[in-house]
Amino acid sequence: MPRILVIHGPNLNLLGKREPEIYGKISLSQINKALKEMAKDRGVEIDIVQSNHEGEIVELIGRAEKKFSGIVINPAGYTHTSVAIRDAIEAVKIPTVEVHLSNIYAREDFRHRSLIAPVVDGQVTGFGFYSYLLGLEAVLYLIKEK
Ligand code: DQA
Repeated sequence: MPRILVIHGPNLNLLGKREPEIYGKISLSQINKALKEMAKDRGVEIDIVQSNHEGEIVELIGRAEKKFSGIVINPAGYTHTSVAIRDAIEAVKIPTVEVHLSNIYAREDFRHRSLIAPVVDGQVTGFGFYSYLLGLEAVLYLIKEK
């Protein structure tokens, strides 16, 4: 049975209260519930982690190859700054999809550049919490195609 790792980056623990006009009113636990339901429907296992620490995210990715068939990651603020997370994804040869709740290309200029985008299989941005479900769908498709 494929096992998928979902990584939520910094400040996503605050979803629901954090800028609801941008990120919606849904909480992280509600997103996780929807992901778990979808995983159950599809007969896949899912591990979900939220971290505010760059090094911890780097380590999770570095260890993922042994245990997981694919990764769905919202690197949050690190999307625009983290060479280390980019390098970790590049080093790990499993399908990886980048997701964002908001459309990063419709926001401030500094959000238009993702350091992560060139090293993932694809990106889903701008569909609110549904970006995660689309990201999971995409990673399952990539695993099947492999
Ligand atoms: C985000 C977009 C990032 O620019 C921002 O720093 C976040 C959330 C999103 O999901 O829309 O924390 O990744």
